[in-house]
Amino acid sequence: QKLELELDSIEKGGYEHFMLKEIFEQPRSIMDSMRGRLEMNAGHLNMGGFRAYEQKFVNAQRIIVVACGTSWHAGLVAEYLLEDLARIPVEVEYASEFRYRNPVITERDIVIAISQSGETADTLAAIELAKSKGATIFGICNVVGSSIARATDAGAYTHAGPEIGVASTKAFTAQVTVLTLLAMLMGQKRGTLTDTKLRELMVELDTIPAKVEKALLLDDEIRAIAATFCDVPNFLYLGRGYNFPVALEGALKLKEISYIHAEGYPAAEMKHGPIALIDENMPVVVIATRDSSYEKVVSNIQEVKARKGRIIAVVTEGDDVIRDMAEFVIEVPYTSEALVPLVSVIPLQLLSYHIAVMRGCNVDQPRNLAKSVTVE
Ligand code: G6P
Repeated sequence: QKLELELDSIEKGGYEHFMLKEIFEQPRSIMDSMRGRLEMNAGHLNMGGFRAYEQKFVNAQRIIVVACGTSWHAGLVAEYLLEDLARIPVEVEYASEFRYRNPVITERDIVIAISQSGETADTLAAIELAKSKGATIFGICNVVGSSIARATDAGAYTHAGPEIGVASTKAFTAQVTVLTLLAMLMGQKRGTLTDTKLRELMVELDTIPAKVEKALLLDDEIRAIAATFCDVPNFLYLGRGYNFPVALEGALKLKEISYIHAEGYPAAEMKHGPIALIDENMPVVVIATRDSSYEKVVSNIQEVKARKGRIIAVVTEGDDVIRDMAEFVIEVPYTSEALVPLVSVIPLQLLSYHIAVMRGCNVDQPRNLAKSVTVE
């Protein structure tokens, strides 16, 4: 038994749970997902699966993303990236809904299927449907040789390494990294990204692993925040723009492993419903990094504050405006707007992890959930 315990601890690399290990692996896994693709010395981007279908990508009229769970959130980030950088219309679909609609799909559509396991039944069925209508299917999977990887025309592996914790962390940031590279490549080939802008993004993307490393140093601070909130029944997460999918992902992480009810919402949409929930007992996590929607998010924070909500704000280092409004501020390194999710999601992963541990939950294997869902 002692040996078993030791083996278990070796597998977890000295961490108490796989989830924590995987959160801390992110500087490395993000780097692995860029390896051979972001070539700083040569000054270019490279992605085998893209090259083979380059003309399809250049001439595509639309991109449809299909995925489930956390991978669907990565798909939402991709919507912002692809529209912003490659100026192509994007629709992001829950695979389970898409497959049972009568979706309009043409041969000029590219379907991007995102899946950590590569085995999710609904995503696989959505692919088969799109294939039968003649669309080109591009897969973004973590597990090499998985069913989805085999069912696609082309694709790019995320190379995040095995993810054991049921709640996805490093697979998400690896998916977002690959989708960022894809959007940059598409923007370059479609002529919607200038060389200067592309170069700027490449330089910035190259710094992301170090910035994630820095965000991980917030661990102790976040554990203290978790202690304040571990007994609450509800949480609200707000974000705008690129941080809206991050708000959804933060809320999902908390629900999955701590069983606290949490809702992610676009910050401006709050006034059409969730604002009714806000009182002095409601923790509201607001992602308010320095980007184009910053001023708007600050007004949203004021609206929460006016209703006595307890604000936990994720801000850019050096922000002294929000400090006076929030009960807690979590400062993350600055990065370009398009890359912000890779950094802003880190404290939210840690927050849900620590809250779940304090509540005595089975973090790596939460009740009722499976790592890979091979039934519909
Ligand atoms: C399950 C897992 C989630 C995951 C989702 C999609 O629900 O518990 O963590 O995000 O499936 O999985 P996939 O392997 O397709 O990314």
